[in-house]
Amino acid sequence: MNVLSVRQLGVSYGGVHALSDVSLEVGEGQLVGLIGPNGAGKTTFVDAVTGLVTARGRVELDGKDLTGRPPHVRARRGLARTFQSSELFEDLTVTENLQVTADPSTWWTALGETFGRRPPSNPAVPEALSALGLEDLADASASELSQGRRKLVGVARALAARPRVICLDEPAAGLDTTESAELGHRLRAVADAGTALLLIDHDMSLVMGICDHIVVLEFGKVIASGTPAQVRTDPAVIAAYLGASAAQPATASGTSGNGSAKALTSTPETP
Ligand SMILES: Nc1ncnc2c1ncn2[C@@H]1O[C@H](COP(=O)(O)OP(=O)(O)OP(=O)(O)O)[C@@H](O)[C@H]1O
Ligand SMILES: [Mg+2]
Repeated sequence: MNVLSVRQLGVSYGGVHALSDVSLEVGEGQLVGLIGPNGAGKTTFVDAVTGLVTARGRVELDGKDLTGRPPHVRARRGLARTFQSSELFEDLTVTENLQVTADPSTWWTALGETFGRRPPSNPAVPEALSALGLEDLADASASELSQGRRKLVGVARALAARPRVICLDEPAAGLDTTESAELGHRLRAVADAGTALLLIDHDMSLVMGICDHIVVLEFGKVIASGTPAQVRTDPAVIAAYLGASAAQPATASGTSGNGSAKALTSTPETP
């Protein structure tokens, strides 16, 4: 049974067709990659799925139609995301950053706060910290964290809401090879524990190394989909990435936008 099922999603910005008829499915415990050159429509896809932009087509979560529902309803149903420019609350601790998403405002927490009582701790917070290997940093200030740890906290914060699926928009941007491999290892474990994941990233070692299935976008359309091995050797995919690298030289490793054919064909690392 699919957790997330997207059918023929379409988004236009004025006259620009940012997405055309994009269909994609993510099953329970599955890690699906969504890749493509800069401007291919990956973020637009997540914006449309989560309800931030108006889209044509159909979005289902656990077989229930979410089409036309506002973002907060989709989030409550179990659709979580991280943002490309993932920000943490710098003045808060790691735990407090997670509580922001984990603590639903309920009548009893509100009542407790009225009487000056601390709300009961939500077990989703330590669970999410443990899933991302962050237990030792629970009380650390967000501002003290390395870039790699910050990204892990961003994922943990989405996980703390106990979603059915998390859409991750370039979680490895700005990470070095070691940090990216650690992130990949943790993401694979999160998926294996049952949370469906949709991973957008330009780090081809990461995507090819951990995804079960990959969908490739170019100019808002699906140009290929399949296993990492199928996608890596697909002529349309290689051409799309060669075009991207010819028009725009690959940037330094670990930064956003390094969609080069060389990266695409490199041997995946074992996380
Ligand atoms: N708010 C907007 N208004 C108009 N056009 C937009 C808007 N957001 C995105 N676009 C356009 O839609 C297309 C898809 O953009 P999108 O940000 O989804 O690409 P992307 O695949 O996420 O790229 P990147 O890898 O650089 O993050 C691009 O042509 C972009 O310029
Ligand atoms: Mg993007």
